[in-house]
Amino acid sequence: RAAQQAQSLAMTDALSQACDYYRAQLRGATNAITYLKNRGLTGEIAARFGMGYAPSGWDNLRSVFPDYDALALVESGLVIDKVDEDGSNKKRYDRFRERIMFPIRNTKGQVIGFGGRVLDQGEPKYLNSPETPLFQKGLELYGLFEARQAIRDAGYVLVTEGYMDVVALAQLGFPQAVATLGTACTSTHVQKLLRQTDNVIFSFDGDKAGRRAARRALEACLPQVSDNKTIQFLFLPEKHDPDSFVREYGADAFAQEINDAMPLSQFLLREVTGDHDLSTPEGRAATQYDAKPLLQAMTPSALRLQIVRGLASLTESTPAEIEGLFELSKPVSV
Ligand code: CTP
Ligand code: MN
Ligand code: MN
Ligand code: MN
Ligand code: MN
Repeated sequence: RAAQQAQSLAMTDALSQACDYYRAQLRGATNAITYLKNRGLTGEIAARFGMGYAPSGWDNLRSVFPDYDALALVESGLVIDKVDEDGSNKKRYDRFRERIMFPIRNTKGQVIGFGGRVLDQGEPKYLNSPETPLFQKGLELYGLFEARQAIRDAGYVLVTEGYMDVVALAQLGFPQAVATLGTACTSTHVQKLLRQTDNVIFSFDGDKAGRRAARRALEACLPQVSDNKTIQFLFLPEKHDPDSFVREYGADAFAQEINDAMPLSQFLLREVTGDHDLSTPEGRAATQYDAKPLLQAMTPSALRLQIVRGLASLTESTPAEIEGLFELSKPVSV
């Protein structure tokens, strides 16, 4: 255990030193600065999020780490070990090259990983740190450390998909934003969010992937819904994400979108209705069929009863019929 602790200390140390190095590199990188300026970002906001730049070159981190062979560099995901198939010819090189760097922090503020964006159309658009003992993508929320006070002040958190959404929203007056880093919203994410605030607003991209992300978030939320919390969904126009929307239409328009966000109950009923034809018995039955697993995922609450009532009225049934059909009075089997 002591060895494990020493190792994670070495990793945290390496990540923090790399972060300082990338930040220093951004100061002289005119191409990266031009890119950020073109996207409307100020130096002040870049500094607030500790953004940096990984220059071109395969072993720049040698200048930061005299012992470039140290295990912590590989374990923290900063460098990659490449070994030929026959086990000969070991090569070690920097993972992040020619990328805008976003440090990802844990709730203590320690850097646990990075996301790096290309400056042009290169692939992949974002390169992230690999999963390490410190960094598990499905557990972390980008920007949560930076946003904590703002979430308390605003009384809600905005959950977006991406780095740029968080940074742009913070610059334009919405510092209460975090991002799921492109992964599906997990129940651990929801747990972490509800630990910070009683009001969560999901604001994913307006594209198909974003709508799928909202559906996954709904499913992750259902077991954790309670009557003293609100969960809402903000749907942006098809070609927008929060970053592009707030830049094109401004902060007031985005604030209006927040105001008009869809409550979880309404989103759930819209999801289960889908394209079923509620004027036919088959359409109403199919709607109930799709609603069953979602309602079963909820624990008993006043909100669940309200959703049951909404579903009953959509499908020409009574709440008691729905509760019977879905076996909602039975304790959930394990
Ligand atoms: N993502 C990723 N790897 C990729 C693409 C996306 O990890 N190859 C993650 C990133 O966290 C990204 C998020 O998914 O921020 C959302 O993806 P996308 O909407 O495509 O990118 P944007 O955040 O909108 O980035 P940008 O505005 O810079 O294009
Ligand atoms: Mn997208
Ligand atoms: Mn974007
Ligand atoms: Mn996006
Ligand atoms: Mn269906």
